[in-house]
Amino acid sequence: MSEHDRKKWDAKYADVDEVGAAGENDWLAQQVSDMQPGRALDLACGLGANAIQLAQLGWAVTAIDISPVGLQIAARSAAAADVQVDWQTADFGIWEPTAATFDLVTVFRYLDRDQLPQQIQVALKPGGTLLYETFVEGPNATVGGHVRNPAFVLQRDELPTLFPNWEVIEYSENEVSDHYVARLRSQKPAP
Ligand SMILES: C[S@@+](CC[C@H](N)C(=O)[O-])C[C@H]1O[C@@H](n2cnc3c(N)ncnc32)[C@H](O)[C@@H]1O
Repeated sequence: MSEHDRKKWDAKYADVDEVGAAGENDWLAQQVSDMQPGRALDLACGLGANAIQLAQLGWAVTAIDISPVGLQIAARSAAAADVQVDWQTADFGIWEPTAATFDLVTVFRYLDRDQLPQQIQVALKPGGTLLYETFVEGPNATVGGHVRNPAFVLQRDELPTLFPNWEVIEYSENEVSDHYVARLRSQKPAP
């Protein structure tokens, strides 16, 4: 496990004392509105808001993050919302997904170019859907006045290229609040 990442995120989440539902993610709700709920996997789930939202919509959700502190808060939020989520602690640096398990994989605000695309490819069933939203370069190098580490920020038009040969159902890059995000809905090829 990446001790550095775990410690960093545990320390951030240790300061969070609020358990409960975050605001609804409108893009997520809109994207799944035409899908039949099945098995969903939320990667880098953090405090679990998106996983809980999917569970409330009838999905059987597994949610993975490196931070046990974040996952404890997420579990309390799920209990308060009266939904079940399978919370799992794992480091994507060494995580080995079970093949062809999920109908839907979601990723919000996390980027790992090295391994995550291949892990998502493995975890999704053929024909399954990926919903991926994270930070993208804006017109200038700053995001909300801060220069971000390029390792964690997509280049323009980069996100679909991480899943070559997948069908892009929808792709956009937009300013949201004080930063830019890329949003991809993509489908793993069926055999
Ligand atoms: C910016 S937060 C996003 C959380 C959530 N998806 C959201 O949008 O609110 C990034 C998350 O990635 C997790 N993370 C960082 N490195 C990781 C790793 N190597 N393996 C698994 N999760 C990791 C952190 O613990 C953190 O919860």
